[in-house]
Amino acid sequence: MNLTDRIVVVTGGAGGIGSALARRFAAEGAAAVVVADVNADAARAVAAAVGPVAHPAGVDVTDEEQVRALVADTEQKFGRIDLFCANAGVSTGGGVDAPDADWDRAWRVNVLSHVYTARAVLPAMLARGGGHLLMTCSAAGVLTAVGDAPYTATKHAAVAFAEWLAITYRDRGVRVSALCPQGVDTPMLSEGLAAGHLGAKVIAASGAVLTPDQVADSVIAGLAEERFLILPHPEVATYARRRAEDPDGWQAGLRKLVRRLTA
Ligand SMILES: NC(=O)c1ccc[n+]([C@@H]2O[C@H](COP(=O)([O-])OP(=O)(O)OC[C@H]3O[C@@H](n4cnc5c(N)ncnc54)[C@H](O)[C@@H]3O)[C@@H](O)[C@H]2O)c1
Repeated sequence: MNLTDRIVVVTGGAGGIGSALARRFAAEGAAAVVVADVNADAARAVAAAVGPVAHPAGVDVTDEEQVRALVADTEQKFGRIDLFCANAGVSTGGGVDAPDADWDRAWRVNVLSHVYTARAVLPAMLARGGGHLLMTCSAAGVLTAVGDAPYTATKHAAVAFAEWLAITYRDRGVRVSALCPQGVDTPMLSEGLAAGHLGAKVIAASGAVLTPDQVADSVIAGLAEERFLILPHPEVATYARRRAEDPDGWQAGLRKLVRRLTA
């Protein structure tokens, strides 16, 4: 897919990665970019900065009715959705003792919202025999996010759901991609570092922390190649291979890193 004349929706569009995607899609010639976020004021500010092709929308992706309304409004206004970027996500910084409310929020934002999105966008995409769903998961979904158990479990579920969708719908014309970055310089990471979360420290120590614009570069390349797994940090593929081939050795390496960071 190239972005010229495309109708695009980006959830979490007011955040670090989402706003970079919105900017980049507009620069690539998209006809409309809907910047959707639970923080409606921030979505308005991002849309205003992106320019006339951007349209703000307030949406809580954990509310199925709101997701359905976002999709219906966009289809009504612009005729279709070519690319839906389900990008909203939350981290918790918690372990097994994280309160149920944190586990629940991570499940709802990081997993259930993707189910709501798929239900809402698939009917028109299948009827048209075309469309692309990009789900921002995380390297945590193919590896592990040390220090954040709810994030790890829910991002693994998100990658699994994305893979299930890709296999089920590809032959009917609908493409699915899972975007799985490691560290990216956004409020999610900087707030984790400021709070002293182990997970944020491990991410910062594990490799390059990319800018959101660099992630957007990878997304453009991944969409052009219609790749399922989009890895802005290519080393994540090497880590995933090591993890699959030698789970005990891979875990030992991570434990060593944690010991070094917590000594
Ligand atoms: N920053 C990283 O290091 C990193 C690494 C891998 C994956 N990710 C993933 O990238 C995505 C974007 O995160 P980011 O780093 O830009 O963080 P961010 O905190 O800057 O942005 C997240 C955005 O999602 C919005 N959001 C949260 N809950 C929502 C809801 N219920 N409905 C609608 N919008 C909601 C927030 O208001 C915010 O604007 C997330 O899915 C995150 O898990 C981030």
